[in-house]
Amino acid sequence: MPKHVAIIMDGNGRWAKKRLLNRINGHEKGAEAVRTIVQTARKLNIAVLTLYAFSTENWQRPQPEISGLMLLLRRFLASERQTMIDNEIRLNTIGQIDRLPQAVRDNLSAVMDATATNRKMVLNLALSYGARAEIVEMVKQIASKARQGAVDPEEITPETVAGHLYTRGMPDVDLLIRTSGEMRISNFLLWQIAYSEIFFTQTLWPDFGEDEFVTILKDYQHRERRFGAVP
Ligand code: FPP
Repeated sequence: MPKHVAIIMDGNGRWAKKRLLNRINGHEKGAEAVRTIVQTARKLNIAVLTLYAFSTENWQRPQPEISGLMLLLRRFLASERQTMIDNEIRLNTIGQIDRLPQAVRDNLSAVMDATATNRKMVLNLALSYGARAEIVEMVKQIASKARQGAVDPEEITPETVAGHLYTRGMPDVDLLIRTSGEMRISNFLLWQIAYSEIFFTQTLWPDFGEDEFVTILKDYQHRERRFGAVP
């Protein structure tokens, strides 16, 4: 089983459009798929599940869509709080959390506090997340430590870099899934996916469910991961 699964949840808008619905209806249905996949991941003993819920680029979307997404996120936190506690899931966020509305930050902090001691799975929500911004932040932190004399530039290793990313302490991504047929990485976890197995599926995120997730996990188990070495 992969330790760390990351998912680019794409296609909510197209799912809605096909049904002549509002984009927000697509995101609502997408939030239901999030619930299902979190439960499935927990059941299958995946240690870390990272979901790309909102990118730094998503701030460019129309304000009503942004507000709708923030509201859905708050609803999700309210409805899933007890399930996360019962299933020993710890909520964590990665991204520029200070850019989120205060009410969302308050809800996130409350659920993170309530689940802080849970050890069975980490649900990592990428919110206002961009990998390049994460890398810039990491460089700033290490440069500042070097200036203070706390880090010797000659001694910087891949572990130093990993230790200054939002995902510090977590394993690299083993399996990356993107729904909706787009074959792009879109500024997601650029460092952490260096050796990930990647799966693209045509399924739109609101239609992505347990069966397809399990099929992808089985396919993953048949892939030979060589990490650049010979078998
Ligand atoms: C991409 O679809 C999806 C998003 C930008 C947001 C993802 C949000 C959710 C799945 C729901 C809320 C999240 C949580 C954690 C409760 P798109 O809008 O880019 O679709 P399109 O490419 O078809 O237009």
